Amino acid sequence: CDSLRRSATQVLLGNWTGAATVPSRALYPHQWSWDSAFIAVGLRHVSPRRAQRELETLLSAQWGDGRIPHIVFNPSVPDGAYFPGPGFWRSAVAGRAAGASAFIQTSGIIQPPVHALAAWLVHAADPAESRRRGFLPRVYPRLAAWHRYLGGARDLGGGGLASVVHPWEPGLDNSPCWDAALARIEPAPFGSFARTDLHHSSAADRPTDLDYARYVRLAATYRDHGYDDARTPHAFAIEDPSFNALLIASEHALADIAETIGADAGPHRRRAEAATAALVGRLWDPVDEIFHARDLVTGAAIAGHSVSGLIPLVVPGLPAAIAKALARTLHGPRFGLGRVHLVPSYDLTAPEFDGNRYWRGPSWFNTAWLIHRGLAAHGEEEAAGLLREQFLTLAHRSEFAEYLEPHSGDARGILRFSWTAALALDLLQ
Ligand code: DGY
Repeated sequence: CDSLRRSATQVLLGNWTGAATVPSRALYPHQWSWDSAFIAVGLRHVSPRRAQRELETLLSAQWGDGRIPHIVFNPSVPDGAYFPGPGFWRSAVAGRAAGASAFIQTSGIIQPPVHALAAWLVHAADPAESRRRGFLPRVYPRLAAWHRYLGGARDLGGGGLASVVHPWEPGLDNSPCWDAALARIEPAPFGSFARTDLHHSSAADRPTDLDYARYVRLAATYRDHGYDDARTPHAFAIEDPSFNALLIASEHALADIAETIGADAGPHRRRAEAATAALVGRLWDPVDEIFHARDLVTGAAIAGHSVSGLIPLVVPGLPAAIAKALARTLHGPRFGLGRVHLVPSYDLTAPEFDGNRYWRGPSWFNTAWLIHRGLAAHGEEEAAGLLREQFLTLAHRSEFAEYLEPHSGDARGILRFSWTAALALDLLQ
């Protein structure tokens, strides 16, 4: 335990840049939105003050329309170190109408809204220090504006759920769930961009060139429409279960934050309840016993079984019968809890399953942490305990790998990955 705690702390200290933490020095040399939220959850056990700072740095890059960009670029890192860099996104110019800062360079897309939940957990680690620094009163208005953006401009389906408009937004970049929607996208010309991710990670573990050509096309179209959700002809628009579950969990956290600082928690609780009803009504599949994403371009549910469909376990007010059904699915042949390592990102029995390639099968530590949290909250103590054991053993043995091949448990992607270390610290408590 002590040696795990020491090495996890070393990863976080080594990846700290002075104002925030990079996910990895090599592959991801800037600040990433949902990474920072998970990092803050672990960092609070090392330094509550630094964990507050992590979130404050991210929130200082928030746009005027409320969006929290998925990357905040570090100006001391050369533009060529990561693709797509600031020169591609042109946030200061292309995002002007949406209120992007002229001084902080960012991307223009978003990532899952884990931030209010992280802020609440960071506060809880040291309430006195949080009060002394006025942490909650300072972050509350920004987090509330973020949620207003998601519930407003991003409710593209009009049914009370937030939509993602790029495969990078739900964080499950190359999930087989997006294959059919992506097949409709005209790829950007291959000579028009140069990937940098393959300098740091094996090509077999990463999305393909064809995936990238489509990611580039979608991002460029959004950029060329000023990142304006109403004006952009969104060729990729999806209601993702995990993205919305995290929004609901964060809305509950925002209610707790509001209560603590003397603001009105009522609207947050009501929004969380309405969104839970929308999540169940629009995405729950009682036959498959999993939540399925919905493609807003075709209007149809996406048939694939992804780990995303299990993450609604983190929703506090989820009906007990649904939580029970999700626990059954987790133990079943598609996700194999206890028979494979952690929780695979995609259905083990599907022909598209690939245990090495990013989100097409590998097990990730952040989704395991979320599922552990959900199982514990819904009284599934035994499954939660098993997942925690596996998590801590594998995080240590893999040197805090980015992800794992689910059958062998071998490390994939890069090592010394910040959220793996941070969430290990959290589970050690
Ligand atoms: C990447 O660069 O691979 C991320 O997943 C997208 O931000």
